[in-house]
Amino acid sequence: MNSKVGIFLVITALCAVSCAHSPFNLHFAGQNRNFSPAWTIQQQQQLPERRNGSIPGGIGTNVFDVMFQWNIMDFEYPTPAARANAIAARQFIPQNVIPLGIAVNNDRIFVSTPRWNEGIPASLSTIELPAFTNSPALVPYPNWAAHTSTTNPDCNRLLSVYRMAIDECNRLWVIDSGIVNALTNLQQLCPPKIVAFDLATDQQVLTYPFPADQILQGSLHTNIVVDVRNGECNRAFVYVMDVWRNGILVFDMAQATSWRTTNYLYNPDPFASDYTYQGLNFQWTDGVFGAALSPLNKPAGDRVLFYHPMSSFNEFTVRTSILRNQTAWTTNSAPATAFSSIGSRGRRGQSSTADMTTSGILFAAQVQLEGVSCWDTRKPYNLNNIAMVQRDPTLLGFVNDLKLDADRENVWVVSNNLPTYLYSQLDYGQINFRLLRANVMGAIQGTICDPQVVANQELINVCPIN
Ligand SMILES: *[C@@H]1O[C@H](CO)[C@@H](O)[C@H](O)[C@H]1NC(C)=O
Ligand SMILES: *[C@@H]1O[C@H](CO)[C@@H](O)[C@H](O)[C@H]1NC(C)=O
Repeated sequence: MNSKVGIFLVITALCAVSCAHSPFNLHFAGQNRNFSPAWTIQQQQQLPERRNGSIPGGIGTNVFDVMFQWNIMDFEYPTPAARANAIAARQFIPQNVIPLGIAVNNDRIFVSTPRWNEGIPASLSTIELPAFTNSPALVPYPNWAAHTSTTNPDCNRLLSVYRMAIDECNRLWVIDSGIVNALTNLQQLCPPKIVAFDLATDQQVLTYPFPADQILQGSLHTNIVVDVRNGECNRAFVYVMDVWRNGILVFDMAQATSWRTTNYLYNPDPFASDYTYQGLNFQWTDGVFGAALSPLNKPAGDRVLFYHPMSSFNEFTVRTSILRNQTAWTTNSAPATAFSSIGSRGRRGQSSTADMTTSGILFAAQVQLEGVSCWDTRKPYNLNNIAMVQRDPTLLGFVNDLKLDADRENVWVVSNNLPTYLYSQLDYGQINFRLLRANVMGAIQGTICDPQVVANQELINVCPIN
């Protein structure tokens, strides 16, 4: 590809990144089960505005709490001298580090910082809970040695992690794109790979580089969904989204093999490829990206993958039995009509990532509407049945990842001002990056997403949200 196309793809890829209501006291009730009270109190003392001070914006009252926030990111080095040396050697350039992916279990938050520019010393880190500052330095996971340098890359180690998922077997799965310097001088230094860690021991338990014939020129693998059923930890399937070349790779853990799936409904919609964010106008043509699994449908023994291209207003579905049928994909006989659109989020409804509760509520990060939306999968997918949980141009300015925590009671999001980082200049005198949390019950309470609220069957115009 020529360099202009390359740069364009780079910019679009970075996007591979992505609305509300309960009274505050309800929101707080029972949501801290997973966290030590000491930490919660600490947070409240240090971020007094967190209780109430989010800018009242959008529809309904505020639901998300800021848990951590940064003007600029930092890493925890073994010694201050090691950090100073890394900065002097430009191995660590703090202004180039921007958080992207998130995964959360009971005592830790995992954050990715892909190496899309120079000076990002590690691309996967933790924040240990309790944390005693609002802006903790990132601790590389599982340790510094697990991260390779970009100058002399060792592809057995972590190079550039984009996103993560924690499964019901207490494992952290990550997708390492193998791509560095996407902003300046894109290089696919290593094949994209899946890596899994056992969170009880922090040992790496699996690494799987995708075979070359499943990677296209210009691919970028940025999202990962893990499908474990009935506690069968050794029979996981993993779905990995190729946002630039419109594919979903399927990894079958039991067979230690993988294949590539394609469908025209993985493609971006040209009418959803124009974005305006805080005065910046840009065009992204990112394909299949955000995805979430339904609960297991017991009689049929199947799950549905709800997914959407980044540059699209629509939501799509496919049964996972279709994706998991290796024969169908390797013999080119998968039924294209098994994929379908279920409806639209409306104008400016582009979404980065999404996740689903065990009760079938889908939460989606909506980048142009500067917020998070919810939808109860039992209702028709349309704007009458999609609620904005919260909109807030500051706190939820550009929500680039959204995940339920390991016990699926809280929704966590990362907002990172990515367009400003890409096309303008972040102001390091102000807060640029935030991790926020909302309790699921609090978020859906009083909205159409509450399963007890009857679906709105009225026909609607697909344009009202703006
Ligand atoms: C919370 O917000 C309400 C409404 O703006 C205000 O009346 C109240 O004083 C605030 N409480 C705190 C603790 O800031
Ligand atoms: C897998 O796909 C093949 C080819 O499309 C089809 O004949 C077969 O029935 C499918 N298997 C399952 C288990 O769905």
